[in-house]
This record gives sequence, structure tokens and C-alpha cells, in this order.
Amino acid sequence: EFEGVSYPSFIPFRKKGAKNVIEDIMNVKSRDSDIIICTYAKSGTHWTYEIVNMLLRNTTELDKNSKIQAMLEAVDDLSVLDSVPSPRIMDTHCLFKYIPKQHRENKGKIVHMIRNPKDVCVSYYYHCLKDVFINFDGTWEEFLELFMSGKLPYGTWYNYELEIERAARDFPGMIFTCYYEDMKQEPVREIKKLADFLGIACSNDTLEKIAKKTSFENMQKNKFDFTEIVDGKGFIYRKGEIGDWKNHFTVKQNEKFDAQFKEEMKDSRYKITFE
Ligand code: A3P
Repeated sequence: EFEGVSYPSFIPFRKKGAKNVIEDIMNVKSRDSDIIICTYAKSGTHWTYEIVNMLLRNTTELDKNSKIQAMLEAVDDLSVLDSVPSPRIMDTHCLFKYIPKQHRENKGKIVHMIRNPKDVCVSYYYHCLKDVFINFDGTWEEFLELFMSGKLPYGTWYNYELEIERAARDFPGMIFTCYYEDMKQEPVREIKKLADFLGIACSNDTLEKIAKKTSFENMQKNKFDFTEIVDGKGFIYRKGEIGDWKNHFTVKQNEKFDAQFKEEMKDSRYKITFE
């Protein structure tokens, strides 16, 4: 736990006397070309990584090399990032306030993917059932309570997303927000917007190829899933759908969730859709 938020146990909290990994992340030396993908867990981080990687490296092939992405909080010794060639793509689920200070000062680019929180919750539930670093063995109902009260690794979805929304206002032009649902329904259009944000010119043909290669079906089939290391089969590419929450929420649970969502998001301008 750090500053009131818990984290999965894979995070290499430092030995006695050494600094905390979250503080180390804040001190990562940034380069102007760095891109940081910021997501709440289960919002499409791996998908976003693959799209950004294809755009940046001018390729339409899945990244077969990076078996484990540079997820900042999972890197034991952050100095290894010094030897990663530019442009570097890093990602994190940590709150915006913990991203490298220099990246903020340099107005470095941030790609943020947001997903409707009901589907995030369902996806997170299955993840937590399988992830030995989280070790959850309760029921769906119990999990939903934990999600709604923010007692899960990385804290509350609301806190995370509202903080990024504030940051996007405070640092105009620095954060690009993609919606999972839009990317799923209109990938070519959304990848084009992302390419524009990254300042990359891309033909329609390339955009279409990227959309195809980063479809759920293709990634599930062809992408190495690092969670195979944990359970032999992998559990990142589960369903990749919009609306799986309807198979899990009872009417009562849904009403309670909606009431909290309405209250928490009352000042937010995010356009979250649940369908
Ligand atoms: P589900 O559990 O609903 O299937 P993250 O990468 O942040 O851990 O998010 C994982 C979620 O994104 C999983 O959701 C996964 O299936 C989904 N996902 C991964 N790749 C995807 C893709 N190419 N298209 C749509 N969803 C994808």
C-alpha cells in the first residue's frame, strides 16, 4: 500500500532503506519522444500499446519482441529504461500524479484509454481470480463491492479517471483520450485520431491494416500473453467485448452502480457509454 492505495504484489517495493518504486517512477529521466500509456487496469492497455507501437515504428505487425511491456511499476530496476532506444513506449496504471515528473514538465505525450467501468469491473474480476499477485477468491458480488469502494489494487476507477480528466485540462494538448468502445466500433477512425495526436501521417490502407492486426481476434490468436507465465494459458485476451457487464450485474447491482456513477461523475465531461 502506498499513500492509501493498494497495489498488486508483483510491484517490487524496495528493500529496507531504499526508495519506494512509485517514487522511483516519478524520477524516471524522460526523453521528449517518450510516450506514456495511462490506463486504469483492464481498460485496454495491451491493445493501446500495440496500436501506438505500430504507428510509431511504422509497421503493421504485432510486436513479438516485447514479451512484457515497459509497465513502469513492474520494472524492478528502472535504470534499464536508459538502454531502451527512442521512441520509448511506457505504460502505467498508477495515478497521474505519479507519472515521471520530467515527462509532465516536458509536456510529453500521454495516451489514455478509458473504458466503461461496468465492463472494467467484470474484466478485473476475472483477472483477479487468476492473478496470483492479487489472489482474489471471492464471489462476483464481493468483488463488485470492492470495486465500488475502491478497495482493489490501484484504488478507485473514479479517482483515477477524474484525476486524468483534470490533468487534461491543466496540461492542454498533452493527453489524448481514446474510448475503448469507440476504438472497438470504429477502429480506423479512432486510430487516425491517435496518429494525428502523435504527429504521424498514415495512409488509409495502413490504418486499415493496423485495425485488422490489432483486432481482438488477431491479438488473442497471435500475441504472446505474458500471463501465460502465470497460468500456462494466459488471461489478458478474454472476451474483448462491449457490454459483458450485462451478463454479470443483477438489476439491483446495476441500480446501485448507476447511482454511484451519477454522483461521482456529475462534474465530468467524459462521454462514457455502456452499450
Ligand atoms: P476482457 O476481460 O473484457 O476481455 P488490459 O490490457 O488493460 O489489461 O485490458 C484487458 C482487456 O482488454 C480485456 O478485456 C481484453 O480482452 C481486452 N482487449 C485486449 N486486446 C483487445 C483488442 N485488441 N480489442 C478489444 N479488446 C481487447
